[in-house]
Amino acid sequence: MTPLRDPIVTLDGPAGSGKSSTARAVADRLGFRHLDSGALYRALTFALLEAGIPQTEWDALTEAQLRALDVRVEPGASGFEVFVQGKAVRNELRSPEVTTRVAHLASLAPSRATLMALQREAGRHGRLVADGRDMGTEVFPEADIKIYLVADLSERARRRLRDEGVAEPSDAEVRAQAIAIAERDRHDSEREHSPLRRPDGAHLIDTTRLDFEEQVDAIVALVERLTGAG
Ligand code: DC
Repeated sequence: MTPLRDPIVTLDGPAGSGKSSTARAVADRLGFRHLDSGALYRALTFALLEAGIPQTEWDALTEAQLRALDVRVEPGASGFEVFVQGKAVRNELRSPEVTTRVAHLASLAPSRATLMALQREAGRHGRLVADGRDMGTEVFPEADIKIYLVADLSERARRRLRDEGVAEPSDAEVRAQAIAIAERDRHDSEREHSPLRRPDGAHLIDTTRLDFEEQVDAIVALVERLTGAG
């Protein structure tokens, strides 16, 4: 098989399926860049908060107004640096203020259109692992390899709690987190614009019983087999 040149690999899946950290590690192993599309939705949310635009006004914003907030991405060695008004942002994107508002912003058509151009530009040179909710369906429908990650709800809840520093969550904590994640899943899957769904032709990987290294190994092996590399 002739090795594929400059492939684009998409990794979609619901909240807590381990996409972003997995995508970063897979990109690292392959020597590709990682695009964390959720970070862009978070950056646009951060930019709105910084600009002092109240959430009650977000639904009326046009694409031109969102573009004027000046969210940009620049390729780095292994991923993309995100800028808001010329300032690099990273930890700001994980604040509770941003996390509680980003799903609303991500449901609005003008925000999706604004970020579409940035994401496609990031993929222009290929050799990319892009993770999100609509990478294989909307942003990179022509991607060479599409992967859809799933995991049982309670396992995703446990992972999310561990990420937040709860080493040994109680059953009640897991149940409460599972309800919150199920609500986000419903929101992401039922929204009108770019709902979360398994892309046509995507490879399904169930990570419920895989640890992090096993997940990364499975995806790297799949990509190497399908691209004819390795
Ligand atoms: O993966 P994350 O938690 O950083 O995503 C933040 C939010 O953005 C979440 O509500 C889902 C949404 N999102 C999206 O709608 N489309 C993407 N491609 C990536 C994230």
